[in-house]
Amino acid sequence: MYTQSLDVPDGTTPALAAVVAAPDALQTRFDEKIDADQKIEPQDWMPEAYRRTLVRQISQHAHSEIIGMQPEGNWISRAPSLKRKAILLAKVQDEGGHGLYLYSAAETLGTSRDQLLDALHTGKAKYSSIFNYPTLLWADVGVIGWLVDGAAIMNQVPICRCSYGPYARAMIRICKEESFHQRQGFESLMVQMRGTPEQRAMVQDAVNRWWWPVLAMFGPPDAASTNSAQGMRWGIKRLSNDELRQKFVDATVPQAAILGVTLPDPDLKWNEERQQHDYGAIDWDEFWEVVNGNGPCNKERLANRVKAHDDGQWVRDAAQAYAAKQRARALKEAA
Ligand code: 3HC
Repeated sequence: MYTQSLDVPDGTTPALAAVVAAPDALQTRFDEKIDADQKIEPQDWMPEAYRRTLVRQISQHAHSEIIGMQPEGNWISRAPSLKRKAILLAKVQDEGGHGLYLYSAAETLGTSRDQLLDALHTGKAKYSSIFNYPTLLWADVGVIGWLVDGAAIMNQVPICRCSYGPYARAMIRICKEESFHQRQGFESLMVQMRGTPEQRAMVQDAVNRWWWPVLAMFGPPDAASTNSAQGMRWGIKRLSNDELRQKFVDATVPQAAILGVTLPDPDLKWNEERQQHDYGAIDWDEFWEVVNGNGPCNKERLANRVKAHDDGQWVRDAAQAYAAKQRARALKEAA
């Protein structure tokens, strides 16, 4: 755990007295580590603002993973085959694991799991806008894997190089699993696109509904991004929202062609001069409405989440009672 306070009581050790005498030296050391692309670890001194923005981003990332279990979880009992059910179960379970990984990374910054979850349950903390849209068809599950997890990979691979050690290391396994998620979604859609006209129409309908919310999930335009500049200075964010969005569009257009689906943007076209795709305007009013709790599924997602947490209280009580019993037994044996 890091020691942040510089107001130390009397009887201070010489080492700590030196720190108190030269707080600027700590900031200088921190800046040097960031500039040298070295990792900041939990026990390292860090500016309070750095710690706060990491708690914000990592916890909201964790919330997104946990809430993200709901849209697809909605289809586990209705998957069209045992194979699809097993794959979907594994994916949803992965998302839960990603959330636990990320809550653990956030806790290394001195914030408790209860505080993090309370911020989510009371609406103080955000989670990704994309999970507030309904999964109306089985094809939605494949499109989420292909586009949402595809966007997540684009956004999360650079975080493997994040300056904060625990977050960067958590991302390595998460990104490997996201790659499985993206491929299983694309494969599922390939099967449906080789199916009946109704199945092909179902896939196209899902693409039409998910394409724009997925572009928005990368975050507001750089000009409206309140955290990006500082996040990039601190090596938390490596590429801007617009850069990642552009990379995603350029990577996804050829995949859509292979699938045989049309991306619902009449302005989407290759720009030879830029060597990138031009694309149409994103509806940022809709984005902020969803971020601010007024999306199609916000209330349902949060209510489900709070109910699941409350229903799980007995498990937490039992685990804590067992741990207390184990501690008492160990103390008795040690006596
Ligand atoms: N949904 C909800 N809120 C969003 C958002 C989105 N898609 N994009 C941005 N915001 C919020 C930000 O949180 C910030 O609000 P805050 O200051 O109250 O936290 C505000 O809008 C301004 O955005 P900024 O661009 O200034 O914020 P950041 O610099 O933090 O960038 C981010 C936003 C790109 C989401 C960044 O936080 C990030 O990279 N987070 C880590 C990755 C992540 O959380 N991904 C979410 C999806 S997880 C997922 O897809 C799981 C997979 O298994 C499917």
